[in-house]
Amino acid sequence: MSAITAYPISPRRFVPANIIVPPYAGNMGPEVYEGSEVQTPDTIGKMRLAGKIAADALAAGAELVAPGISTDAIDAVIHEYLVSHGAYPATLDYRGFPKSCCTSVNEVICHGIPDARPLEDGDIVKIDVTAYLDGVHGDTCATYFCGDVSEESRLLCERTEEAMHRGIRAVRPGRRVNVIGRVIESFARRFGYGVVRDYTGHGCHRAFHSGLIIPHYDTVNFDTVIEVGMAFTIEPMLTIGDYHSHVWADDWTVVTNDGSRCAQFEHTLVVTPDGAEVLTVS
Ligand code: MF3
Ligand code: CO
Ligand code: CO
Repeated sequence: MSAITAYPISPRRFVPANIIVPPYAGNMGPEVYEGSEVQTPDTIGKMRLAGKIAADALAAGAELVAPGISTDAIDAVIHEYLVSHGAYPATLDYRGFPKSCCTSVNEVICHGIPDARPLEDGDIVKIDVTAYLDGVHGDTCATYFCGDVSEESRLLCERTEEAMHRGIRAVRPGRRVNVIGRVIESFARRFGYGVVRDYTGHGCHRAFHSGLIIPHYDTVNFDTVIEVGMAFTIEPMLTIGDYHSHVWADDWTVVTNDGSRCAQFEHTLVVTPDGAEVLTVS
């Protein structure tokens, strides 16, 4: 199994004039979000639509995953799906990110840039899509198998998805957000998996990354009390080996230091009186 390396990146994709572009696109970074983490019913209604489009775009892109297909081709399908459904691909020009989704293969933890590398039999590929529609975001990611994947990798993916669902089920008003990391890390530990700490879940609604941090590891920090109407992501990244990472010279691609594989699943949710409603579903 050879290490992932950088391949050429295609020219910037065209966004039709009817698509409303978020205020941060093309800037060095978004402005600091000063609003509430608790969203109004009107905003939550809009987020259901953005969440569905993100989920459907992800599914459309995932259908392509097969040996020989480039992650750039997956990006093209996701871009077309989003803009043809009226949404802006939130990662495009976000802090200078050049593409309409993130594609992170094998030991790439997250923020991989779609490029010309042909997927290989046995790869695992994380596809992360964020739709911006009517002023709100829906952010979702899943890990897909390319051809015949080893049992070790398949188990990593299945257990990472289960870890995400355990995190979602731990959400309840009155608890602190670090309960999410506590349940995820205790599940991951059973299998000896690493839990990535440097990239976290986040408040996600009118702001893409609001400033609220949702840890996936066990910590006494991040003790914000969960309230009805808060909207945020849960997006654990679990590694077969050590979770420590570094970033490529492209300033985006995050890889494990030990080269071990990583899986990730992500949903955007809103807190309800008795738990959470997942918004990034079809
Ligand atoms: N969708 C990613 C997340 O889950 C963020 C990607 S930002 C990018 O938070 F610039 F890398 F695209
Ligand atoms: Co996210
Ligand atoms: Co995401």
